[in-house]
Amino acid sequence: MLIDAHRLQAWATELLKGWGYSEDDASYIAATLVDANSRGVDSHGVIRLPAYSRRIVENLIDPAGVPQVTVAGSVVTVDANRAAGQIAARAAAEAALALSRKTGIATAAVHGSAHFGTAGYYARWLAERGAIAIVVSNSEPIVVPFGGKDALLGTNPFAFAAPTHSVPISLDMATSTSAMGKVLVAQASGASIPDSWGVDADGAPTTDPNAIKALLPVGGPKGYGLGFLVEILGGVLTGAAISHGIGNMYNDFSKPQNVGHWLVAINIEHLLPLDEFKNRIQVLVDAAHESAPAPGFTDVLVPGEPEERTKEARLRDGIPLADATVDELRELGSRYSVQFPEGATR
Ligand SMILES: NC(=O)c1ccc[n+]([C@@H]2O[C@H](COP(=O)([O-])OP(=O)(O)OC[C@H]3O[C@@H](n4cnc5c(N)ncnc54)[C@H](O)[C@@H]3O)[C@@H](O)[C@H]2O)c1
Repeated sequence: MLIDAHRLQAWATELLKGWGYSEDDASYIAATLVDANSRGVDSHGVIRLPAYSRRIVENLIDPAGVPQVTVAGSVVTVDANRAAGQIAARAAAEAALALSRKTGIATAAVHGSAHFGTAGYYARWLAERGAIAIVVSNSEPIVVPFGGKDALLGTNPFAFAAPTHSVPISLDMATSTSAMGKVLVAQASGASIPDSWGVDADGAPTTDPNAIKALLPVGGPKGYGLGFLVEILGGVLTGAAISHGIGNMYNDFSKPQNVGHWLVAINIEHLLPLDEFKNRIQVLVDAAHESAPAPGFTDVLVPGEPEERTKEARLRDGIPLADATVDELRELGSRYSVQFPEGATR
């Protein structure tokens, strides 16, 4: 099904309000999810709503939760207070932005939080307001350490964004080779997978998606090291849970997830006028675009550009949702008397 982004967002907002979120919080969470769908990151879009709803029902996320923000020097700390991850991350980003405009650089550390969607959403929000930003979060363990056979770290996302004269440049990535969602898709379709994605119960790389027990870090020891840094910043430093202490979003309803997020915002105007920065970064962007493409490529893009292209197309043509996802959302909507927008295709 192809669905109009604005109608999908309006539906998700109504659904979230029905769970107890304020209008403002509901529309913010809905915007983060539909933004992910618009950018082609469907694994972090509205497909997450059923899991969010279950965690609210189990009283592990509080739709009325208000994050507690404390500022000391150039550091913001946020106790998510069982609010949704998106609401806690928004509080952190807003406070860090305001502080960075005074101090030049500000960092925010969030604990007691839950899944916040895509890390890039908050990084781009900061970049659109004149900051260079890095945003990370730890997550439940599913990735083996380099040389190990059992999961130790989460897919621990890492994002950065920087302003340009148009949309921010933005790298937004898991620190694993592949998302678990892609393995599930291969399981459903019976396809084999590249042996770089994950390992079986013996810790051996496998092409059989049904044999996958854990994922591999992207780029071997380098991605493992980056995932470790995310765990240090997002988990150890923030006071959130660490590694196996984190509650699994999908199958542990005994405790809140208690993931942590960490971000830094650098106010460009403390170093050079924002316009001059944008002129200077344009030199780099132009050089990338003028690079000769290698065999098999038509052009060279900058980080985030593939998603910007997808977003342009999806906002114009609609967001494709898989039948199974539509069925699940339809059922969720019926349960809360917020009917999924039938016939909202373009
Ligand atoms: N909340 C969580 O716990 C959690 C955990 C893991 C991942 N995530 C999110 O999942 C999302 C997907 O992560 P992923 O690793 O599958 O992303 P991905 O592999 O699709 O993309 C990674 C990055 O590579 C860039 N890229 C891809 N092709 C490019 C090209 N040709 N030229 C230049 N740049 C290019 C993209 O712009 C993107 O920034 C991210 O938004 C991440 O924040 C969230």
